[in-house]
Amino acid sequence: MKKMIKFLDLKSINLKYEKEFHDLLQTFLESGWYINGSMVEEFEDKFAKYCGAKHCIGVSNGLDALKLILRAYDIGPGDEVIVPANTYIATILAITQVGATPVFVEPDARTFNITLANIKLAITNKTKAVMVVHLYGRIVTEIEEIKDFCEKNALKLFEDAAQAHGAAINGRKAGSFGNAAAFSFYPGKNLGALGDAGAITTDDVNFAKKLIALRNYGSFVKYENLYQGYNNRLDEIQAAFLILKLKDLDEDNLIRNKLATIYLEEINNPLVTLPASSKSNENVWHVFPILVKERSKFIKYMKENGVETLIHYPIPPHKQKAYKEFNNLKLEVTEDIHENIVSLPISPVHTHEEITAIIKITNNYKF
Ligand SMILES: Cc1ncc(COP(=O)(O)O)c(C=O)c1O
Repeated sequence: MKKMIKFLDLKSINLKYEKEFHDLLQTFLESGWYINGSMVEEFEDKFAKYCGAKHCIGVSNGLDALKLILRAYDIGPGDEVIVPANTYIATILAITQVGATPVFVEPDARTFNITLANIKLAITNKTKAVMVVHLYGRIVTEIEEIKDFCEKNALKLFEDAAQAHGAAINGRKAGSFGNAAAFSFYPGKNLGALGDAGAITTDDVNFAKKLIALRNYGSFVKYENLYQGYNNRLDEIQAAFLILKLKDLDEDNLIRNKLATIYLEEINNPLVTLPASSKSNENVWHVFPILVKERSKFIKYMKENGVETLIHYPIPPHKQKAYKEFNNLKLEVTEDIHENIVSLPISPVHTHEEITAIIKITNNYKF
């Protein structure tokens, strides 16, 4: 039987670290210190430098990172947060879980990301913040203009950078533009841990201090609680794995970029719409999304020909049963994307041969 080309092979991705992981686990066990220790500090220091931010605060996962940002800036009931309608539901969950209101705006149909023009249309006197999402690995093209706009209008700018570790524009990386940015290190991310993990980056020292307490029951000093905080800490062991993998992130992103370039140059099926191309590392290709007509037939066809695909995402947040209050919104660009989008395999362990095979199969698709 022909070997299936997997969408994502985490085992292969992590295999090259096997020996280092084993050694690390041994050191970790022997250390006797498992929470809030030197590994978390070292990772925070390295990741802040990597992103070009002054501070990094390790947390439990990406959703908690987003929630902590909103909570630390006192965003809550009565406040509106402008957010792209085309995102993973976690971005929206964070906003509603702090009691604020998400104001959904349409993305650009080719980059799939939020635009300044649509942000401007959504401003009201209740707007407190703009939450951009660097979706699928692509940094928001107008991030610098959006930053200027937010500063001029006294709005906070937050980045959901859960899918964009290392993406940069004009030499500046995701996570260094907003008042704060949230990262996820969910195993399948470009920088993936061996379980749940996340981080917040910021240049604001007071905000960073507040977050350090908020992630730890609201406490700086044991058993003294300044805030009604959470247990949202990053594990020492995950931090240690992340330190190891961070060394290879740029190289991994470069491989993703090379594979994406091949897809962009060689897929020529008129039934397929390719994502907009991008300069150097403006896109770290967390996924390679294409738009196809008759998506379910395409997915079945790809599977029959040995290629696993995934949909990011099949139902937009405003159409989810969990958000009945938004179900009547009509966001045509977003809904069109969700109806036709499908992701082709792309990762640092996919080979040139596999990508060439996927291109050939994609180009032969008809319905
Ligand atoms: C855009 C986006 N935001 C937030 C999150 C939440 O991250 P986590 O799964 O670590 O909670 C994800 C995770 O997939 C994501 O893709």
